This record gives sequence, structure tokens and C-alpha cells, in this order.
Amino acid sequence: MTTRPSALITGGSRGIGFAIATQLALRRWDLTISARGAEELERAKSELEVHGSTIHAVAVDVSGENAAHTLISEHDQSFHSLSALVIAAGVGTASPLEGYPMRRFDRQVAVNVRAPFALVSAALPLLRATAKKDPTRGSRIIAIASLEGIYPEEGLSAYGATKAALISLVRSINLEEAEFGVSASAISPGFVDTEMTEWVKDSIPREKMISVEDVAKVATLILDLSPMAVLPHVIINRAGRDAYRA
Ligand SMILES: NC(=O)c1ccc[n+]([C@@H]2O[C@H](COP(=O)([O-])OP(=O)(O)OC[C@H]3O[C@@H](n4cnc5c(N)ncnc54)[C@H](OP(=O)(O)O)[C@@H]3O)[C@@H](O)[C@H]2O)c1
Repeated sequence: MTTRPSALITGGSRGIGFAIATQLALRRWDLTISARGAEELERAKSELEVHGSTIHAVAVDVSGENAAHTLISEHDQSFHSLSALVIAAGVGTASPLEGYPMRRFDRQVAVNVRAPFALVSAALPLLRATAKKDPTRGSRIIAIASLEGIYPEEGLSAYGATKAALISLVRSINLEEAEFGVSASAISPGFVDTEMTEWVKDSIPREKMISVEDVAKVATLILDLSPMAVLPHVIINRAGRDAYRA
């Protein structure tokens, strides 16, 4: 049985999730990474294994009915603990409110809200047990929300609503779980240079976007805190933008 801390990272195959996985692998955390695309996930696993910890990869759509239980039980079987649940899998599409395709709305709700809710609910017994075993570390949930969840921009109504719900879920976790040593943080960045923002790079060049490494540094800072200190919500602005524009 391992004594190293372990994390389960959804959306761990690329972008922000992979950057957080890299930071944790460099710190010798054992990891379960997950995403739908098996090939990209295996490539990510190989890159992370170079740093010396154990990496388990589970290819699954987080919005599937049994995904939460599959992920938690796979992680539990591999590592018998869960120091951090990192929710990075997310999707977003832009469209005006008028005539908004409800299929797209439902998809964003399923991946960005329903899946995190199911995952948190399924993960709590293992998170609590891990915090009980090591009260000096506790255990944490990090949810990658978005600036859109606080102040949505034109065309991103559905995405913004899902991220606002995720920020609310983080608050609920902190209310209900503090006594069990489990805390939660939402990280809400403006535009980050990933595949997700390809559509906007004609108007905002990637060098003007936040880097995945900067988001990962915020995540590791949160994980370094003692259990008595909680950062419930961290907003990351792009330089030169006011607080409420992505
Ligand atoms: N990029 C930004 O500007 C920005 C800003 C604020 C917040 N965020 C949030 O940050 C998170 C990560 O975004 P990113 O920019 O890193 O995006 P990304 O590069 O597109 O990565 C998304 C990750 O999530 C996985 N994923 C997507 N849908 C999934 C599903 N249904 N089931 C399982 N895995 C799924 C993807 O793998 P597969 O496609 O193979 O499943 C991939 O690993 C998202 O929640 C996003 O909303 C992004």
C-alpha cells in the first residue's frame, strides 16, 4: 500500500488538467488521470510516469451514468486513498441565447455540473477516510470553474451558468465537509491557452492568454496549505483585463 498522496484528475489528458497532473507527478503524487480519448490519455500517462510516481489512466466519459463510481473505485483499488479530487474535465460552446440549441445546453450541464456533483458525492467517503488518516494534510477538492461563472460574456450563457453552479457546489462542500477534514476550492481563470480556446485565438493571441502552468501553480499552492486554511475561490485575470472580463 502506497503512503504517497494521491489525486484523481478528470480532464487529465491535456490542457489545465494535464498541467496540474504534471506538477503533482513532479512532487511524486500518485495519480489517476481520466478523459474520453484513450490514445491521448495513454500518451499523457507515459509522459507523467517519467517523474517516478504511479499513474493510473481510466478512459471514460464523465457524464456516463456509472462514471463517478468507476473512477472512484478504480482509484481506490490502485491507491487506497484520495488526497485530492481535481475536476478539470469541462466543455463549453458559444451561441446566442435566442434559439440556443438545448442539446448543447444539456451536454454542458451533464459534463460541467452533473458529473462533478456525482463525482464529489461518490468521492467523499474516500476523501474523508484519507483526511482522517492524515489530519495534518486533510483532503481537498479543486474544481476548475471559470470567470464566466461570475460574469458571463455574450454567447456564453449556458457555459457561464454551469460554472456558476460549480462555484456554488464548492461552497456547499465547504459548509458540509469541514468537520470531516475535506475542503474545496474553485479556480476561475479568464482565457487560458488550451485547445478549448482555439476558437477565440483570432481575436486574442495565445501569448495574451493565461498559461496552463500558472493555473497549475495555483492548484499546487492550494494543495500545500494546511487544512485550517481554505481558498474557496481563486480568480485568475489576464494581465490588462479588469476583474470581470475573460
Ligand atoms: N481554457 C480556458 O480558457 C478555460 C478558462 C476557464 C476555465 N476553463 C475550464 O478548465 C477546464 C479544462 O479546460 P481546458 O482549457 O484544459 O480544456 P481542454 O484542453 O479541452 O481539456 C479538456 C479535458 O477534459 C477532457 N474531457 C472533456 N469532456 C470530457 C468528458 N465528457 N468526459 C471525460 N473527459 C472529458 C478532455 O479529454 P477528452 O476530450 O479526450 O475527453 C481533456 O482532457 C474545463 O473545465 C474548462 O471549462 C478553461
